[in-house]
Amino acid sequence: MSALRLPSVVAGKTLTEVISMRVNGKPCRTIWPLSDAAVAVIDQRCLPHQFKTVELTNVAEAAAAIENMTVRGAPLIGATAAYGMALAMRADCSDAAVASAADLLQQTRPTAVNLLWALSRMRSRLLALPSSERLQAAWQEAAALCEEDVALNEKIGQQGLALIEACYQKTGRTVNVLTHCNAGWLGTVDWGTALAPIYQAADAGIPVHVWVDETRPRNQGASLSCWELGQHGVAHTLLPDNAGGHLMQHGQVDMVIVGCDRTARNGDVCNKIGTYLKALAAHDNSVPFYVALPSPTIDWQITDGVKDIPIEQRSADEVLTVTGLLAGEESKLATVQIAPAETAAANYGFDVTPARLVTALITERGICDASEAGLLSLFPEQAHE
Ligand code: MRU
Repeated sequence: MSALRLPSVVAGKTLTEVISMRVNGKPCRTIWPLSDAAVAVIDQRCLPHQFKTVELTNVAEAAAAIENMTVRGAPLIGATAAYGMALAMRADCSDAAVASAADLLQQTRPTAVNLLWALSRMRSRLLALPSSERLQAAWQEAAALCEEDVALNEKIGQQGLALIEACYQKTGRTVNVLTHCNAGWLGTVDWGTALAPIYQAADAGIPVHVWVDETRPRNQGASLSCWELGQHGVAHTLLPDNAGGHLMQHGQVDMVIVGCDRTARNGDVCNKIGTYLKALAAHDNSVPFYVALPSPTIDWQITDGVKDIPIEQRSADEVLTVTGLLAGEESKLATVQIAPAETAAANYGFDVTPARLVTALITERGICDASEAGLLSLFPEQAHE
């Protein structure tokens, strides 16, 4: 069934030219179809210690991969859900199967709106077709959605590069960017959102250094951002989550760039828990605070992000334990308890940074104020809603 595979040459370019990110020097994406029977993803729970890929062969496996965070990051959650719909069509292409696959995938994680966006796109595409055409269309639509994600993120990188370049022109020294969680290529199909400008700056020869928040409780900064920045050869330093404010007070942060899981119509932005505290510290120290997001991350229906964006609450175990490589062992991962057993723990996955604390939003169409007027200046087609 090779007709359903992604082409190895896209728009006249080889795969090496098309894929920007590398693992041990080899081009790699976070998700790719193996045939019309399976989709491969990187198991992000094992990074940075082990690089493993996992094959998803049905919709239940795709849903589980999102839920257990084998894959994570708003755009990649959407991409995985789209392929989950394609996997579902292998078993049954009826209207009922489309609806039940979308329901299953939708229940996996509540905060990133890219999931709802991808499912609604897949549902509309499939239900508009006779069931005999749905299988092939689902694979093509999922592949198209992934290609679009790459193109959007590359454009975000170009937009954000201008900000880093301007800072470099002004100071003439290494630009220090602080980031939170992982909004790099591992959270997308390729390039990343917050890290895309950094990769493009580094590729353009601008000296750039990244302060990476560890991002408790799951440590996506330490395990994922540090790993991918290292793979790309970008200078970076890992920080405990609570160090950013101190560095800002001492002039060691030129700008903050973070990603986003849902942007409200009024410019409020929801991202990994702890982002809000960094925005407060940035505001207090006049450090520009930028949020990078592709348009599928905008929820045009929500007008007050703090009030209305659903915040995922996760298992207390993630707060009460830490997982890492066992000291002295080459490949043994271990989970250790860090608080007295039976300690109550709260685990809110995300927080909302009010628009007033955001210097600007970096989108694929340009950079704008974090406000409804700012967003509509770039996306005027949403004015009617
Ligand atoms: O819980 P996660 O790891 O899915 O959270 C990810 C983030 O908060 C990212 O910053 C966001 O999804 C942007 S990814 C390009």
